[in-house]
Amino acid sequence: MARPLGLGLALALLLAMSATVLPLASSADDYARCEGAVKGWADSVGEGDNGGDKLNLKDLLFFLHIPRTGGRTYFHCFLKKLYTNAQECPRSYDKLRFDPSHPDCTLVVSHDDYSLTSKLPRERTSVVTILRNPVDRVFSTYEFSVEVAARFLVHPNLTSAKTMTSRVLTKSRAVSTLDIWPWKYLVPWMREDLFARRDARGNDSVPSSKKINAYDVEDMVMPLHQYINDPVAHEIIHNGATFQITGLTNNSYFNGAHEVRHCVRKHPDLGRFVLQVAKNRLDRMLYVGLTEDHEESARLFAHMVGAQVLSQSGALKLDVQEDQPSGTDSHSSMLDPEDEETNEHME
Ligand SMILES: *[C@@H]1O[C@H](CO)[C@@H](O)[C@H](O)[C@H]1NC(C)=O
Ligand SMILES: *[C@@H]1O[C@H](CO)[C@@H](O)[C@H](O)[C@H]1NC(C)=O
Ligand SMILES: *[C@@H]1O[C@H](CO)[C@@H](O)[C@H](O)[C@H]1NC(C)=O
Repeated sequence: MARPLGLGLALALLLAMSATVLPLASSADDYARCEGAVKGWADSVGEGDNGGDKLNLKDLLFFLHIPRTGGRTYFHCFLKKLYTNAQECPRSYDKLRFDPSHPDCTLVVSHDDYSLTSKLPRERTSVVTILRNPVDRVFSTYEFSVEVAARFLVHPNLTSAKTMTSRVLTKSRAVSTLDIWPWKYLVPWMREDLFARRDARGNDSVPSSKKINAYDVEDMVMPLHQYINDPVAHEIIHNGATFQITGLTNNSYFNGAHEVRHCVRKHPDLGRFVLQVAKNRLDRMLYVGLTEDHEESARLFAHMVGAQVLSQSGALKLDVQEDQPSGTDSHSSMLDPEDEETNEHME
């Protein structure tokens, strides 16, 4: 079994996500056109081989990082110890797209979706990912969106927040959460909302004295129910993990992603083709962890991935690495987009 953890649970997660697409009115013509587009896509991405040697780590490891699944922990506690900085491929977040000409890199960690593999030597690439119960993943995405956006409230107004931030970023040439999918959409959305609510409150607002539910503080922040019912959340969050695994996010390297994505949102029953592709993809991965089963997932990661990296590269590396400063380097493909410290420049 390539997948160390319950196939059933993994599929349940995908099913739960695919059930959230929005139903919209449609004509029969449009349905037929969409069905053709989605089926055509599904056929074209169907992998020919049966993934026979999927258990063997190939030359390149692509850690497909689904936001809010705990991937950072794997990055810091495993991958940073298993790979040297030089082995890590240059950062590949959106605008700073993956550079396949980089000669010796063997590790890619990215929020970029599966379509990134079209830029990689596919036969020599192993893919790993971590899935999380979609409800928890959505809560966590909301919380992180609010947290990052709220850091901008130190500025007197939205204009000033935007100006100051872009000035600092241009100067430091740092990677900001605002450069990285999906935060580049979710954070500005929430930021605008936070400022609007602050402006509406005026200067002398006193915090409401009634007992508050942190997910429904309307005078301060967009309530959770409003956030999760927005079409942006449907596309980027609810269906985000499935779209990442199938390479259909709106950050995709595949030109047809837009059409397929919109077709399945318009005609939810076509989502079954996307789901099938997602299942096949997971099936061919070297490893799929589950956030909920952290301990078992971490142990299996060590066995399935860690042990192979070590045996392929010589176990001595661990000792060598020990002597190096473990701080974030500017070259890293994972500049901790979800790490508080790296967002300090935005404060
Ligand atoms: C925003 O704040 C800056 C800095 O205090 C100020 O110069 C500017 O006039 C403000 N802009 C608006 C639209 O209030
Ligand atoms: C808030 O305070 C500032 C200065 O402290 C003042 O210029 C502004 O008019 C006040 N706004 C409101 C809505 O009371
Ligand atoms: C991706 O989705 C967001 C949210 O719906 C949207 O604002 C943005 O324009 C989209 N980007 C692209 C490249 O389609």
